[in-house]
Formats: sequence, C-alpha cells, structure tokens
Amino acid sequence: MKATANLENDHIYILRLCDVMEKMAYAANIDPEHLERVVSLIRNFADGLHHKKEEDLLFPKMAEKGFSPVQGPVAVMLHEHEEGRKFVRGIAGNIDLYKSGDKEASEAVKYNLLGYAGLLKNHIAKENNILFRMADNALSDEEQENLSAEFNKVEKSLAPGGTSSSYISQIEELEDGISQ
Ligand SMILES: [Fe+2]
Ligand SMILES: [Fe+2]
Repeated sequence: MKATANLENDHIYILRLCDVMEKMAYAANIDPEHLERVVSLIRNFADGLHHKKEEDLLFPKMAEKGFSPVQGPVAVMLHEHEEGRKFVRGIAGNIDLYKSGDKEASEAVKYNLLGYAGLLKNHIAKENNILFRMADNALSDEEQENLSAEFNKVEKSLAPGGTSSSYISQIEELEDGISQ
C-alpha cells in the first residue's frame, strides 16, 4: 500500500469524527462525557497518530523533494494542524465550566466543535486532492514503501494492538452514542 493511501484511510475516520462533532454542536444538549471522548480521540488519533505521521515522516520526506516546510502547500498544512490544536484547546478548556451549566462555555464548546470540523474537512480535501497527489508524483515506489513501513512502526508504538482499530471502534461507539 502507498504511504499516502494509509493517510487517506485515516482521513475516512477523521471525517466521521468531524460529522459527530457537527451533530453534537447542533444538538440541544451535549453529554460532557462525549466531549471528553472527542478531545481524547483527536489528541490520540487525529493529532497524536495521524498528524504525527504527516509531520514527522511524510512532510520531511517531501522537504527532501523540494517542498518547503516554511512556505507553500506543506507550510499551509502545518499551519492548519496548529489551528486545529487551538480549537481542541477551546473544547477541552471549557468542559468543566460547561458541566457547571455556564452559558458562555456552552457557546465556546459549540464554536470550537464546528471550527475544528470545518477546518479539518477542508484540510483533508486539500491533502487528498492536492498535497498527496504531489507526494505521489514526487516519491518513488520504494520511497512510498519505506514510508509505509515507518508509518507501521509509529502505529505499533502508539496504538495498542498494533493498528488504528481501537480508535476506529471508539469513533463508532461515539456515533452510536450520539444517535441515541
Ligand atoms: Fe494534515
Ligand atoms: Fe491528514
């Protein structure tokens, strides 16, 4: 499998998490435990695993091929990862106040849920349609395979059980949880 296909597969589940976040933002009430699960899934899966593979492995490989990390498409992707982290802090930092019934915290949580989901949907479209296709053109089959092997090492070191499957089942549980 191409390394870029590994990342595109993660995107499928990150997009499902974004859908969950949008549904939560428009719901009359949000279960704070669901918010905690969203924050944990982003920090461990979307950012901790997926963005780590991009930032520590794909983007440096692309830099070797002339894609600068300080300007151009890779720089834009890095900036958007940072923007995403701000939205996550905006959710996490308001959960306690939200639990106490604070109206402003509730608005802030909704704003940041929608902000994250909107940003990531757009970001993923750019990666799938543009950035990863640039990577496919720039990288040889052997380089893609080596990168895939590196991704597997990261997945083994971070995700218990050696795959992303535990995160995928957590996203599915959340989907079931909010539809009840
Ligand atoms: Fe990204
Ligand atoms: Fe990505």
